[in-house]
Amino acid sequence: MNDHEIEKLKSDFEQDFSEAGNMDALQALRNKYIGRKEGQLSRFFEEFKNLDIEGKKKFGPLLNALKESVENNLNQAESRFADAGQKVDMSVAAIPASPGSLHPISLLQKQIEEVFLGLGFDIELSPEIDSEYYNFDSLNMPDSHPARDSQDTFYLDLETPKEVRRRVGERMLLRTQISNMQVRYMENHNPPFSIIVPGRVYRNEALDASHEHSYQYMEGVVVGPGVNFAQMAWTLDYAMKGIFGESVKTKLLPSYFPFVEPGAELAISCLVCGGKGCAVCKHTGWVEILGCGMIHKHVFQSAGYPPGEYQGFAFGFGISRLTLMKYAIPDIRFFAENDLRFLKQFKQS
Ligand code: DAH
Repeated sequence: MNDHEIEKLKSDFEQDFSEAGNMDALQALRNKYIGRKEGQLSRFFEEFKNLDIEGKKKFGPLLNALKESVENNLNQAESRFADAGQKVDMSVAAIPASPGSLHPISLLQKQIEEVFLGLGFDIELSPEIDSEYYNFDSLNMPDSHPARDSQDTFYLDLETPKEVRRRVGERMLLRTQISNMQVRYMENHNPPFSIIVPGRVYRNEALDASHEHSYQYMEGVVVGPGVNFAQMAWTLDYAMKGIFGESVKTKLLPSYFPFVEPGAELAISCLVCGGKGCAVCKHTGWVEILGCGMIHKHVFQSAGYPPGEYQGFAFGFGISRLTLMKYAIPDIRFFAENDLRFLKQFKQS
């Protein structure tokens, strides 16, 4: 082996390679140059074994570089031919696209959001893992408050971060209500504002057809100087008509929630019987769907607003529950089972 032979082999390969027009020709080149027994380059490698140290130092790098370039050229050309060889059969019918559909809860949530956006509300979010302070204490529900019993949740084995810790022994939890954003939002915003907050809430419930451990909720908060109860009544009536249709009637009933005073529940005329009375509305013609009221002064106090300067109303309702009613779905557990036979029935209009 000498320089000249190696140079010749290189130019022979280049010549052969430029003429190889298909896979078979490439395979033949592979055999001719780097085939294990007959390959010309392979033979040089055999000779290489018998060279003295000087010879090895000289020819080693040359042979390796040449082998690498031959292999690279062949590999690249092979994959080019392979790609080109894949034929497209234009006569085969196209696979129909199946675009899927939105979950019924998402459908209704979008519709509700549209209605409130139209009224000038902003959409905000709040954390699902939160401190007891924001979920309860700041909302006029201290540790000892009996209303805490009705909102048992999942407490977490997590230390409450310093930035949000307000008292000794405070635990972290999965929020039971999106009302957890009220004081958090007020701490960072000055009135006037009107916001809605969609999201998931958690409860430690015994599961059955109408109780889940988590469900989709929406909270609304309106705060400003002079905001009053009549504005709340009008806003909720307008929103319900936007969501369920013009024929829906609303009425407010006195109720109690620790973070509002006075508190109320909003009932709508039954969607199933139109108010005549049926099993769904327990023959009353009305279904209570939403908690609301004028924001309690203790909540404003938690937020650090000057006493008496602002008034506001808040409301909260379960989107999951409204979706059950709107589509007459018999079991809340269908929502999370991911059964396509169920989900495919809800198409976006
Ligand atoms: N957070 C309450 C719940 O989950 C619902 C609620 C009631 C929210 C009254 C409000 C309200 O903002 O004013 O049961």
